[in-house]
Amino acid sequence: MAKYTITVCMGSSCFARGNDTNLAFLEDYIKENNLDAEIELAGTRCEGKCASGPNISINGIEYNNVSVENLEEILKSLEV
Ligand code: FES
Repeated sequence: MAKYTITVCMGSSCFARGNDTNLAFLEDYIKENNLDAEIELAGTRCEGKCASGPNISINGIEYNNVSVENLEEILKSLEV
């Protein structure tokens, strides 16, 4: 079982405001670092928190206003 599940909000607001790029970045990051076994990607529908989006969560911990820049920092802090 993967150590981390990263859930990306695929609702139209989060997606249009950055999760499209964030998702592409995550897919590349996982591939480049061979993290398929450690990180599982999932998508979710709008959870009504669009104002604080783009939103992602990692093992249930929510991150808001996620951009590629802070996503990279978040990923580096994971113990994979
Ligand atoms: S679109 Fe992500 S919380 Fe609404």
